[in-house]
Amino acid sequence: MKRIILIGYMGSGKTTVGRQLAMALGLSFYDLDWYIEMRFHRSVARIFAESGEEGFRQIERNMLHEAAEFEDVVLSCGGGTPCFYDNMEYMNSLAETVYLKATPEVLAMHLKMGKVERPLIKGKTEDELLQYIRQSLEEREKYYLQAKHVLDVSLLDNYDKIQTSVTLLRQELGI
Ligand code: S3P
Repeated sequence: MKRIILIGYMGSGKTTVGRQLAMALGLSFYDLDWYIEMRFHRSVARIFAESGEEGFRQIERNMLHEAAEFEDVVLSCGGGTPCFYDNMEYMNSLAETVYLKATPEVLAMHLKMGKVERPLIKGKTEDELLQYIRQSLEEREKYYLQAKHVLDVSLLDNYDKIQTSVTLLRQELGI
């Protein structure tokens, strides 16, 4: 039985790399945000707007406890998932956890390329975004670094680069 959980800041490539990793290994792929949206019939942005971040974090924790029990899966989490409650300890107790580590500059570029609405960074200018990433990454990294594995990722702006990260990740995991 294989269970791999990808963690890391928004825009680190958890969903992009996770989906390709699952495909390469013949595992199912789940994205925790999508799972929440499917179970609650509400977008993450709407949950934030209606229930606040506190409400979202409770839902996220509960849904993590469902999705992390699945077998033969790659699960990509939200950027904040490891930083609340005992989520990081919980994930480490049942899975191979991997921190996808990227610089603030790469994260900002990925976020600009992405189309998903992210409530925490909505409406920020480029400068504000980089500033916000630098500050919150510093606060969050102590959680991310509790993952069992760390993979450095650089700009993932084409298919080959994504595949290279998948190969490196498989080497790191020995699978
Ligand atoms: C969040 C990251 C998002 C999503 C929510 C909050 C965060 O997921 O869970 O908007 O706190 O970093 P992604 O990392 O997939 O963007």
